[in-house]
Amino acid sequence: MSTPRRVTITDLRRMKEQGDRITMITAYDATFAKLADKGGADVILVGDSLGMVIQGQQDTLGVTVDDIIYHTKAVLRGAPRAHIVADMPFMSYQTDAVQGLQNAGRLLKEGGAQSVKIEGGEEHAELVYKLVRSGIPVMGHLGLTPQSVHAMGGFKVQGKQQPQAEQILRDARALEAAGAYAIVLEGVPVELSRVITEALDIPTIGIGAGVQCDGQVLVIYDLLGLFDDFVPKFVKQYAQLGPAAVKAIAEYKEEVQAGTFPTEAQTFHTKEVLFRPRAVETRPEPSELDDDDMGGLYGVVPV
Ligand code: KIV
Repeated sequence: MSTPRRVTITDLRRMKEQGDRITMITAYDATFAKLADKGGADVILVGDSLGMVIQGQQDTLGVTVDDIIYHTKAVLRGAPRAHIVADMPFMSYQTDAVQGLQNAGRLLKEGGAQSVKIEGGEEHAELVYKLVRSGIPVMGHLGLTPQSVHAMGGFKVQGKQQPQAEQILRDARALEAAGAYAIVLEGVPVELSRVITEALDIPTIGIGAGVQCDGQVLVIYDLLGLFDDFVPKFVKQYAQLGPAAVKAIAEYKEEVQAGTFPTEAQTFHTKEVLFRPRAVETRPEPSELDDDDMGGLYGVVPV
């Protein structure tokens, strides 16, 4: 079978022009990336949400560039078709443009991503311009930007009031002017995402931003019902794999304890006589054996 052609940023722009909605999903390893690709995702985001769903942290702030590179490499191996975006983690681009360029470059060179995503608007427009001019496509991220969780006073919907909504619209325009190829709108009212989506030529991709965006993104663990520490209102669980996994593991434990797993179907045999028959039964009493000493257990008793 031939390898499918990978989705490009030009394809995504064309999808907006043609009114085809973009499906984006996060993934952090090869197995889930393969599932996402097979399911038809156009874009796979190696999100810094991995800090929460993979590393078990409270927020995304502790994620490092090395973490994202590690997971991006794995995702790339699993997904031959989807466009792979790697998140720029907290404090990997906020200091200055040189730091941003170097880290974004690593995500493409070492991780194999095709583009990077950064959180923030006007304040990062210059960096976006420099990245794009250096050949690094950039996806923006506005609204509820999880790296600013402390500045926002928690994970809260943004842009519900006029001045903040106007700022987010200005940010979106600034990112587009700087050369961003798409923008994630997270946790904003649908009334705002509609205005932004109509104002821009580049696609908007919503998460908790209503149906008016040009595409949608969900965290794969949320979508599959694998993460239940908290389930935000904007999440739809398309499957309940978490409870199914717990049930399967409990069943496995029961069979291990009952000695009904493995069965013949999962057992290997050999036709060789592995051990010479002994003249007399030499099997020691169990009390003579160490816990890890299997000596004697394979002794063949002569007929
Ligand atoms: O890190 C992430 O998964 C994200 C998405 C929620 C857009 O940024």
